[in-house]
Amino acid sequence: MPNQPDVLEKLVSLCKRRGFIFQSSEIYGGTGSVWDYGPLGVELKKNLKDRWWHAMVRARDDIEGLDAAILMHPRVWEASGHVATFTDPLVDCKNCKKRFRGDDPKIKGTPGTPDAQCPACGMKGTLSEPRLFNLMFKTFMGPVEDSASVVYLRPETAQGIYVNFLNVQQSTRQKVPFGIAQIGKAFRNEITPGNFIFRTREFEQMEMQFFVEPGTEVEWFDYWKQERLKWHQSLGLDEKRLQWHQHTKEELAHYASAAFDITFDFGGTLGFQEIEGVHNRGDYDLRRHQEYSGKKLEYFDQPNNKRFVPFVVETSVGADRTTLAVLVNAYREEAVEGEDEGRTVLALHPSLAPVKAGVFPLVKKDGMPEFANTLATELRQHFPVFYDESGAIGRRYRRQDEVGTPFCITVDGDTMQDGTVTIRDRDTLQQERVAAERVGPYIRERIAV
Ligand code: GAP
Repeated sequence: MPNQPDVLEKLVSLCKRRGFIFQSSEIYGGTGSVWDYGPLGVELKKNLKDRWWHAMVRARDDIEGLDAAILMHPRVWEASGHVATFTDPLVDCKNCKKRFRGDDPKIKGTPGTPDAQCPACGMKGTLSEPRLFNLMFKTFMGPVEDSASVVYLRPETAQGIYVNFLNVQQSTRQKVPFGIAQIGKAFRNEITPGNFIFRTREFEQMEMQFFVEPGTEVEWFDYWKQERLKWHQSLGLDEKRLQWHQHTKEELAHYASAAFDITFDFGGTLGFQEIEGVHNRGDYDLRRHQEYSGKKLEYFDQPNNKRFVPFVVETSVGADRTTLAVLVNAYREEAVEGEDEGRTVLALHPSLAPVKAGVFPLVKKDGMPEFANTLATELRQHFPVFYDESGAIGRRYRRQDEVGTPFCITVDGDTMQDGTVTIRDRDTLQQERVAAERVGPYIRERIAV
């Protein structure tokens, strides 16, 4: 059966039940739009981040990695434009006290006028005029809580890269064009977070800033658009569910002169939504940091004996949002031939699957548990393996299908005679007999990035 139109609700329940994702501080009633990754979720997200790091940093010689701090000098956010312009219009209803973004399409009429209608309680004339609300979280550095000690939780990781541009360039002796990449947390006090891990107040970004000579940015922009689309396809995301969206002038962020989003079709009410932005940021950021810090951020092109402030092409993708895309894309409910009960499957790319193999003795006797346990322990040195000896074999397979385990290995009567085991493929349900010592290389080949 193809994907259902709206699987989000089913995924929220599966993710909690099987230990992928839990509501933050659940025993206290939960924290608004913050989520915790459980044992399987942390593996899934880590595998996704590893694939990005591999593609963007390790497999290339023109991109360097960085891990900049979350807390930065407050002037950074003045220079970046976030203090002045990283705002959303906020509207509240005097009757039901609910809050909305001023541009929420569910609001009928103009907020602040008598004809405007609250989308939650339906009252007319109760919506306030929109006021600008800055999305950055503020805190204080040091023991004194005054305006001089205000610092922000970063709303994007990019600024940590710009302020380290010369440190990285000079220490690695990279020549323009080259990039700097990092993965890290970002925080936004979103007015309307929601849809599970789609829009949250704390999330992870995987960002890369590519520094190029002015005049070559359009060419690099096109190059990075293609590279990033290919990366999403390599995760197994259905090509029909991926689309470009070009930002209109009104949509462009304050730093961008051109922007394209890679959007994914989440189905149901969400439909196509941004998972990654590719931005032409020109020299906006480096110039602003030069101006605010008083330090030159120029590149010296030695062969041509010229200095310039590089232009930047940015690729910025959300680790959590892409994890959700991967889950939605992978979720299936299928009928199984010859069986009354269907199965739920997460058809995850094997490299992303949190557990790579389930190892089962067919029955709990005749030396099978001992054999299977030894095999599981050996395999666990190379990749995550789940050992299970309880219940009917069919049920054990189903439990692994539901969390996306690509291979199930069964130790049976023949194993005890000839040392072979069966390997069941999650997607085709085909079983192959393989010598026990070949299982490790067999799986390693199939889960390679
Ligand atoms: N440095 C550029 C930048 O931050 P953005 O389009 O605001 O650009 C990039 O964000 C990506 O970060 C988005 O495509 C999305 O995947 C992720 N993202 C942004 N806000 C988010 C939120 N509140 N919750 C989850 N992911 C978010």
